[in-house]
Amino acid sequence: MQRSIVTAIADMMPVAGDCFLMAVPFEPEPLPGQFVMLSFGDGRTDPFLPRPISIFDWEGGMLTLLIRVVGRGTLLLGRQAAGAAVRVTGPLGNSFPDDAGRVCFIGGGIGVAPLFYAAKRSKAKDRSFILGFRSADESYLTGEFSEVAPVRFVSDDGSLGEKMFPHEKLDALVAAGERPDLVVTCGPEKMMAAVHGVAKKHGLRDVHSLESRMGCGIGACLGCRVNMPGASVLVCKEGAVFDGSIFEEKQ
Ligand SMILES: Cc1cc2nc3c(=O)[nH]c(=O)nc-3n(C[C@H](O)[C@H](O)[C@H](O)COP(=O)(O)OP(=O)(O)OC[C@H]3O[C@@H](n4cnc5c(N)ncnc54)[C@H](O)[C@@H]3O)c2cc1C
Ligand code: FES
Repeated sequence: MQRSIVTAIADMMPVAGDCFLMAVPFEPEPLPGQFVMLSFGDGRTDPFLPRPISIFDWEGGMLTLLIRVVGRGTLLLGRQAAGAAVRVTGPLGNSFPDDAGRVCFIGGGIGVAPLFYAAKRSKAKDRSFILGFRSADESYLTGEFSEVAPVRFVSDDGSLGEKMFPHEKLDALVAAGERPDLVVTCGPEKMMAAVHGVAKKHGLRDVHSLESRMGCGIGACLGCRVNMPGASVLVCKEGAVFDGSIFEEKQ
């Protein structure tokens, strides 16, 4: 059941140059892959629209969000301090499947955000991450992810882990005999499409958390529609988690 509440920020923690963690009391317990719509709770109307943010973590009634500053809304949210009021609406959207024995979670940049909680909560007997960042300087929470499951880091410049892209690492692992039953990804659309290409080549099941600009988060404004090669979808209502076939042209 979703709720819309005004609540006080419990904690704000900078994690890297342009990212921060925001902790807010929130119930009910969300499912991995779901998101919330976050806005200011002090009555201000600028920015007018709430911003969609994934569940980074939820523990004992405390929701943690990992947010990257990309524009005005996230900049202003990042300037809030503990005690400031925010409106949180959620949990929204569908969730990652959790019926596989071996799951590989693949994240790129801020796309790592929903994968921490997904791996932490997963009932899979074998969980691992492939996490890609531009560079070591632009990476974050590497220690925290490593505490949840084994991580293979890759980076564009080789300053963190191996110098390759996440889909290339997946390809290499499968070629070496490490075959996940399910691949879960979130990151830039190009990265997710490339991961789908590798998953299809090896006959792996893959799901992806898509992004789009959102107005309402509940299917009312039609603002989050994206035209993918496989379908035209409302990300908030039909996703944000989609099967990899969404990256394939319909025959
Ligand atoms: C389901 C979902 C979950 C998300 N989870 C997270 C998360 O956990 N952490 C996080 O930091 N961000 C997340 N995002 C992205 C986040 O919602 C946007 O970065 C945010 O809305 C930007 O708001 P702004 O006012 O700061 O930027 P704006 O001023 O609105 O935009 C700044 C720049 O970012 C681009 N942009 C804005 N929104 C998006 C978007 N949704 N997708 C792609 N580009 C966009 C704009 O085109 C522009 O170039 C998520 C998005 C979705 C749809
Ligand atoms: S955000 Fe309004 S319909 Fe999806």
